[in-house]
Amino acid sequence: MSKYKIAWLPGDGIGVEVLDATKIVLDKIGLDAEYFHGDIGWEFWCKEGDAFPQRTIDLLNNVDAALFGAITSKPMKAAQKELVPELQTKNLVYRSPIVRMRQMFDLYICLRPCKAYPGNPINFKEAIDLVVFRENTEDLYSGVEFSPVPQELADTLSRLSKPFAPFSKLPVDQYAISCKINTRAGSERIVRAAFDFARKFKRKKVTIVHKANVVRATDGLFFETAKEVAQQYPEIKMDDANIDAMTMWLLKNPFNYDVIVAPNLYGDIISDLCAQMVGGLGFGCSGNIGDKLAVFEPTHGSAPKYTGLNKVNPIATILAAKMMLDWLGEPEKGSALEQATAEVIKEGKIRTYDMNGSNTTTQMAQAIASQLR
Ligand code: NAI
Ligand code: MG
Repeated sequence: MSKYKIAWLPGDGIGVEVLDATKIVLDKIGLDAEYFHGDIGWEFWCKEGDAFPQRTIDLLNNVDAALFGAITSKPMKAAQKELVPELQTKNLVYRSPIVRMRQMFDLYICLRPCKAYPGNPINFKEAIDLVVFRENTEDLYSGVEFSPVPQELADTLSRLSKPFAPFSKLPVDQYAISCKINTRAGSERIVRAAFDFARKFKRKKVTIVHKANVVRATDGLFFETAKEVAQQYPEIKMDDANIDAMTMWLLKNPFNYDVIVAPNLYGDIISDLCAQMVGGLGFGCSGNIGDKLAVFEPTHGSAPKYTGLNKVNPIATILAAKMMLDWLGEPEKGSALEQATAEVIKEGKIRTYDMNGSNTTTQMAQAIASQLR
């Protein structure tokens, strides 16, 4: 029996190609694992009316970790139209399988390291080394949304909130509501995860990102909770910034930041910005981590434009596999994989299109594998 069971979830589009490429390096590194394919993505929405079928949920309940490629998502109307005819009348609601997976398995940490590997021609600045902790289960992604707004809700909100009253005079199909829900427990555990990480890896500072001056209830709660947690880590510096200012400061001086922690939506925004500073989506790796399961993925999507061309950069997914190795308790293999990747970037002989090169996805994976002994 293998030491680890890993769910293998390619998904749609280039998700398949980047996972195939990553298999090349994992095989070379000799991880004692068995891989189990899981169905996820657009194809299963169209055919079965469910992009995250129960059999895949069952699989995730029985593995140590998962590697996930990417999925295609489309707005509700387009989603309905692409269902097979017999499902079109069923009034099925499309919800992103990634968001569902994060909530269902309580993968509350979204960990996104952003490190500029020397020699990458598209680094914004060399030596950027930031880690983003994005809360992954609540906030504006809670899934509590209304369009049209039920009259009952409009009446209640109008009674409870003065600023809401003018909206309640509009016809209910003329506005929409997405609820931003942040809990004290949810805020506390993500901030704690960031500080624990800082302590473990001797990082100097944790920056709390919020917009508590305007979004007082939810971001206020997040920020207040964060400050309480920070007191328990006196050796680590804490500072904070509003999300808008943060994007400006990050671009101006990324070296001022070390570990960043943010509620779900701000964390999503910040991590794309940080990914771009270290080479773009071809380098953005991510771990969705809970207490029992962790799912690792590149941050990019299914990039339909490049599907089937063997052209995109597999490094984001290979670095996600590195994170998976660390999480499984194989940090030596994780470091070896990171070093091999860094070496190939530094040499600059093999580069995919996004690095101003013309090598294929497979060639990049093979080059990294050949650095592994
Ligand atoms: P995308 O991330 O798929 O691609 C945007 C662009 O980024 C590509 O056209 C390409 O220029 C570049 N890119 C992406 N991955 C790359 C790689 N590995 N190497 C080099 N360049 C790369 O975003 P897009 O086009 O907005 O969305 C396509 C689909 O993916 C949509 O259906 C969207 O909903 C979905 N999506 C899924 C995500 C996920 O599965 N986690 C995340 C983001 C989008
Ligand atoms: Mg994103």
